[in-house]
Amino acid sequence: MNQEYEHEVPSDSAEEEAEATRRDAGDAESSRASRGWWDRNADEYQNDHGSFLGDDRFVWGPEGLEEAEAGLLGPPASLKGLDVLEIGAGAAQCSRWLAAQGARPVALDLSHRQLQHALRIGGDVPLVEADAGDLPFKDGSFDLACSAYGAVPFVADPVKVFREVRRVLRPGGRWVFSVTHPIRWAFPDEPGPEGLSIAASYFDRTPYVEQDEQGRAVYVEHHRTIGDRVRDVVAGGFRLLDLVEPEWPEWNSQEWGGWSPLRGNLIPGTAIFVCERTE
Ligand SMILES: C[S@@+](CC[C@H](N)C(=O)[O-])C[C@H]1O[C@@H](n2cnc3c(N)ncnc32)[C@H](O)[C@@H]1O
Repeated sequence: MNQEYEHEVPSDSAEEEAEATRRDAGDAESSRASRGWWDRNADEYQNDHGSFLGDDRFVWGPEGLEEAEAGLLGPPASLKGLDVLEIGAGAAQCSRWLAAQGARPVALDLSHRQLQHALRIGGDVPLVEADAGDLPFKDGSFDLACSAYGAVPFVADPVKVFREVRRVLRPGGRWVFSVTHPIRWAFPDEPGPEGLSIAASYFDRTPYVEQDEQGRAVYVEHHRTIGDRVRDVVAGGFRLLDLVEPEWPEWNSQEWGGWSPLRGNLIPGTAIFVCERTE
């Protein structure tokens, strides 16, 4: 086990005191909240979801769709020798799968603790601690970029992220990312029947914020409608090739937060945007 991993993350009462609200949250505040939240919650996240994710599988979301089956980055055999950037990589499970196909992945995440889990699991994927909105790479460094629920749902300015991804991609490179399906915003985030009735406007883009007693955000999620996401992709310098809405498979009986077989059979839970860099 990696030495550094054995260090305890200082416990923080931020979440215990957190109040959930809806209010604006800018770029810097959202990033700061995400870094803190993922540092405090990485252990629990990996403990709860690590076995479903697998150490070296590429899973696009709670439905369990795997890249090995979906081929959204291209057929697995075509990945050999390609430079791939994984954004919001967490413990770098997807990057390990990419490396096993012969690709050269780099796993980037904002959270130090998530990357410590990547070290704990092991493998020789390069890890980079950085914000998706400010990528520390030269122009044209990668053939492909991908993200399974990493960064995009949590940033205030997704176009800024997409422009950065475009900059570090080579012409024609693919950018494939998954996010919570926008329709879920209108429903309570509950796996049971209470999660089946519309409770909020799909069109209300006011971010979901959990804040501490001083009013500082400790968790932020940003909502974009499907139309917003398409416009963001185009504004970022990409064309949209496909929008995949994985259906809930029969084999998957696992609940993951508000994602469940009950809801998954009725409404989509994940949206995967398959984009290509314009020249
Ligand atoms: C839901 S997890 C997904 C991690 C991994 N892809 C998986 O499937 O387990 C979201 C990840 O995005 C990272 N993240 C959030 N905001 C980010 C940002 N602005 N830049 C880079 N990473 C970010 C978090 O630290 C976290 O590891």
